[in-house]
Amino acid sequence: MQFEVWSKGLAQVAVECVVIGVFDEPQLAAEARAIDAAAAGRLKSLIARGDFSGRSGETLLLTDVPGVSAGRVLLVGLGAAKSYGRKAWRRACGTAVSALARTRIRSAAFALDRPSLRELDDDYFGRSVAEIAGSTLYRVNDLKSGKKPPAPVLERIVAGPVRGTGVRAARRGLEHGRAVALAMSVQRDLGNLPPNVCTPAYLGDQARSIAKKYPSLHAQVFDEAGIRRLKMGCFLAVTQGSVQPPRFIVIEHRGGKAGAAPIVLVGKGITFDTGGISIKPAAAMDEMKFDMSGAAAVLAAITFAAEVRLPLRVVGLIAACENMPSGSAVKPGDIVTSASGQTVEILNTDAEGRLVLSDALHYARRFEPAAVIDMATLTGACVVALGAHHTGALGNDDALVRELVSAGVRADDRAWQLPLTEEYSEQLKSNFADFANIGGREGGAITAAAFLAKFTQGLQWAHLDIAGTAYQGGPQKGSTGRPTPLLADFLAHRARGRSE
Ligand code: BES
Ligand code: MN
Ligand code: ZN
Repeated sequence: MQFEVWSKGLAQVAVECVVIGVFDEPQLAAEARAIDAAAAGRLKSLIARGDFSGRSGETLLLTDVPGVSAGRVLLVGLGAAKSYGRKAWRRACGTAVSALARTRIRSAAFALDRPSLRELDDDYFGRSVAEIAGSTLYRVNDLKSGKKPPAPVLERIVAGPVRGTGVRAARRGLEHGRAVALAMSVQRDLGNLPPNVCTPAYLGDQARSIAKKYPSLHAQVFDEAGIRRLKMGCFLAVTQGSVQPPRFIVIEHRGGKAGAAPIVLVGKGITFDTGGISIKPAAAMDEMKFDMSGAAAVLAAITFAAEVRLPLRVVGLIAACENMPSGSAVKPGDIVTSASGQTVEILNTDAEGRLVLSDALHYARRFEPAAVIDMATLTGACVVALGAHHTGALGNDDALVRELVSAGVRADDRAWQLPLTEEYSEQLKSNFADFANIGGREGGAITAAAFLAKFTQGLQWAHLDIAGTAYQGGPQKGSTGRPTPLLADFLAHRARGRSE
């Protein structure tokens, strides 16, 4: 997809379709009135007849409107004028792209009225257009054997209006958004694959093939013997019940100054979580194929960094394995030694994410990182607390957590901070080992983070619990691509030397 901006003279932009907005009064929006003037009031009379109500989600494709050089005009409902803001604008953009995707239109100029600059400046305007276009055009790589509907042919979007002084920022935004959309599709494809295809070995191969595509990337993949040499006892305990061999993946984007302290991203890569011996109930267990979403988000973030040649060193670490019950599986009561030397009593084998992460977080130390951020579909408790709207954000460094929360606000991919004060770690007491891997029902999302905190002392560390946000269940079942927009915004900000 090609993105451009238009600034003045929409009439001169050579495209096959012009996209304009209508409020639900119904009333033509400002940009639409200019088109209507050229068309000698055709649009106004169409609305007066009641042929278009302007409701949010509504579209109407008109052909050969006199006075308009583009062969088609797409009307898009904007909803109520008084509540028209960034959210309604985003929705209208998405509606327009999906309507265009059902046609044979190859190029379109967007002339939907923009929310105020305070709500959406030129940079974020560009980002949002490219990101929304990319995620709306995303198609699940399904394995249905029937004939597929024809792929959309839309290949060029000219977005506006942008004032002359804003053109540079908008173009920069389009480039950022294009890379975010690409990264999200990497994440979504991996998440949506069936768990018999997306195995730990497959994730390792994908990391290698992504690294081959970009000169800034370098990947190293450890097999089980390598993981054993790293003494990752917690990780090995989770994988020992599975016949699929585990992988520990290190993938680095070498941007910025060589040897600078990197941002280390750590991903939970459980390619299927049955719960192990503490087995899960059968209902919706298939959704536990998405339990590698943190790993997919790491590969997405690295793809983003490489794609925009981010002047920042970013290291991705992924602990990938299955959590299965079997004769060789880890049992409740087993005690294992983590790479950090601390011992853990495994009281529930379904609390496996924190086990694999603990060894990966310990590995992060060798990079002397500027910050460590892990991403994991870690707890059902986080879904109970925040639902599907906010990612849970916790950590041992309030400034870092706040930085991530702010990035989520800017990127429309929000996170909410949960408290990680010292009391919670008392719930992890064990009579037989340094601590247990569960802390009871109360504050489950926080006690999981308190477990991770045992392995990140002295590091600037934050944890994103994406159990509720990384995928959807139900009829829309599939990976959402979150928290890639948040993380891309965070990394881009850091690369510009900002940490607020
Ligand atoms: N992968 C799950 C968390 C999860 C649950 C993600 C629901 C998405 C939706 C994780 O490994 C898990 O099973 N956590 C347990 C922890 C408990 C045993 C302390 C949970 O949340 O029930
Ligand atoms: Mn589990
Ligand atoms: Zn899990």
